[in-house]
Amino acid sequence: MRNSDTMCTQIVLHLLFFVSSLFSIPAASLCSKDGSVVRNISEIPSGNYGRDGLSHITVAGAVAHGMKEVEIWLHTFAPGARTPIHRHSCEEVFVVLKGTGKLLLGSSSSNSPGTPQEFKIHVNSTFSVPINDPHQVLNTDEHEDLQVFVIISRPPIKSFIYEDWSMPHVAAKLKYPIFWDEECWDSHKDEL
Ligand SMILES: *[C@@H]1O[C@H](CO)[C@@H](O)[C@H](O)[C@H]1NC(C)=O
Ligand SMILES: *[C@@H]1O[C@H](CO)[C@@H](O)[C@H](O)[C@H]1NC(C)=O
Repeated sequence: MRNSDTMCTQIVLHLLFFVSSLFSIPAASLCSKDGSVVRNISEIPSGNYGRDGLSHITVAGAVAHGMKEVEIWLHTFAPGARTPIHRHSCEEVFVVLKGTGKLLLGSSSSNSPGTPQEFKIHVNSTFSVPINDPHQVLNTDEHEDLQVFVIISRPPIKSFIYEDWSMPHVAAKLKYPIFWDEECWDSHKDEL
């Protein structure tokens, strides 16, 4: 190729780049649905959404990805961190990826959760929480994070939060949308 041709090609390429940058769609806004087939979990936004000691990632969700039947979270609890005492009318399965902690499970059949049953949880343990049973997951370790993979059915989730185990079920406070769904709630449309 002659030199002048090369120059021409370069100028055209620069122009094309400039023009395309004028028209390109701005970086996907925070609340636009991510339609990628394969997502790198390290690049999915994480946050504590006002919960001390929690790092939440929606791996696949109703609001973020248009999921209809299941939703998946990755939760990392700092030492001592815990979920609120809460219940929801969906199935929930946990897989412990890291750390140790406790599952506290109250009753849905009496007026209030009552003294919860305690279960130790550890790496590679899995448990599911029966529909509507009040529960709480805690990191009991002083040094290590507790990391759990959480699968829930029927998203987006409607959660009822208790102040303590003696609070009557009817007094538990509805939290809907849930903390991490708030930001993009308006862009969410239930298409079912
Ligand atoms: C996933 O994202 C992390 C953080 O940006 C990056 O270090 C890693 O290389 C990515 N993995 C792949 C396979 O792209
Ligand atoms: C969890 O259990 C599976 C099945 O036994 C095993 O292959 C895997 O290595 C275990 N993972 C950890 C982190 O212990």
